[in-house]
Amino acid sequence: MAGSAAPGGEGWSSRWAFVLAAVGAAVGLGNIWRFPTLAGENGGGAFVLVYIACIILIGLPMVLSEILIGRHGRSDAFHSVVKVAEDSNVSRNWGIFGGIGILSAFLILTFYSVVAGWVLYYVGVMGSDFLGALFSGNPFAGALASENPETIPSRMTDLFGNIPLLLGMHTLFMVLTIWIVARGVTDGIEKAATYLMPTFFVLLVLITLYGAFTGEFAKALAFLFTPDFSKLTPSVMNDALGQALFSMSVASAALITYGGYVSKETRLAPTAGMIAFADTGVALLAGLMIFPIVFAVGLDAAAGPTLVFQSLPIAFHTMPAGSLVGLLFFVLIFFAALTSSISLLEGVVAWAMRRFEWGRAMTAWLFGGFVFLIGVACALSLNVWSDIRLLGFWPLFEEKNIFDTIDDFVSKILLPTTAFLTAVFIGWRADKKLVEAETGLDGALFAIYRFLIAWLAPVGVLLIFVFAVFPN
Ligand code: PFF
Repeated sequence: MAGSAAPGGEGWSSRWAFVLAAVGAAVGLGNIWRFPTLAGENGGGAFVLVYIACIILIGLPMVLSEILIGRHGRSDAFHSVVKVAEDSNVSRNWGIFGGIGILSAFLILTFYSVVAGWVLYYVGVMGSDFLGALFSGNPFAGALASENPETIPSRMTDLFGNIPLLLGMHTLFMVLTIWIVARGVTDGIEKAATYLMPTFFVLLVLITLYGAFTGEFAKALAFLFTPDFSKLTPSVMNDALGQALFSMSVASAALITYGGYVSKETRLAPTAGMIAFADTGVALLAGLMIFPIVFAVGLDAAAGPTLVFQSLPIAFHTMPAGSLVGLLFFVLIFFAALTSSISLLEGVVAWAMRRFEWGRAMTAWLFGGFVFLIGVACALSLNVWSDIRLLGFWPLFEEKNIFDTIDDFVSKILLPTTAFLTAVFIGWRADKKLVEAETGLDGALFAIYRFLIAWLAPVGVLLIFVFAVFPN
């Protein structure tokens, strides 16, 4: 078997299975919801430029480092780091950053599942709208054709105001995620990725072409790719770094864990390149899919987290075949979210299975249950708990509800910390021969990788982090 001796003896059945699962982990709400939201809020081009620089200089070497840690350690994020540390004759305490990664995965999934729940709700709204249009003999109608454009965004406020619905959607999504993880690596995770990801890519290309032909494509291009450097504040740079790490799924256990199931024969460097390329490509395509549509109907690019949910349905209302395209669009986001949430839960479950020596199914339901409960608090912070401030004493979080506090705490504090420690560990403490052998790189390519992971990544992360967290 290709990937034997991993946690619980599980492994990917082929290299492609691994690539699809890892790309599935990387491509998610981060690309289609969070990237356009942040790019829109941070003024477009300058943010995108820093984001791409962070991906290439920090994200890519991080992806390679994490997969190699996993493959060498053949275990979860914590125990794999410990194993690399032991084999390098350095302190086992380095395992702590693996542990912070697992904590990040746990926390990300709490709010991730709530947003995925919004997606499910919109799949339902658009699905019933399309069926209605189909049965009335008008399959190419605009979305929500009988409604007034002004009332369409109220779908979201209706959802936020309806606690049973909000929690119901979150529950549905978590149950689905847990069920797939409980089925295991080949029968659950791999199978989901091999069905969902190819469908995802087909839909993405179709909808981007649709936006390019029917929307304001040139305006979107200019918005995303003309940097205005006066907009480059430390906080914009921190947002871009946090987003790059979040989007690549680094510093949060998933890639180390997935690396643990990779066979010894797989060459890691090209695989890491593919993951980075696919992830960045999808984020940019998502921008090129969404902004032409947003600009076509004169909506605000800086609308924030509701951009995709409130603005786009208005656009689909006025555009040809909007009912069908709107449905496909939300199905696409749903597929992307599911393959990512699976990787988040797997990062936690793989560790707990080993730590407590429990079976997979029980661990998945138990830890998925904990995530679910904190997710309930995130969901309620959009409603009755909107005034609760978890970290109100900290100026960075003073105005944030539970949902935003968890999101920002992870992406602005935990992810950069773990990324910094990973880079220092691999760049300075891990045995050089071990790292070289695992990457499969030699000569100039290995030297470039070493330079990026030992110098550029830690210094870059540290600078951005310090300026953003201590602005004065
Ligand atoms: N990269 C995913 C996204 O862009 O939606 C989110 C994510 C998945 C973050 C897995 C971290 C992770 F470990």
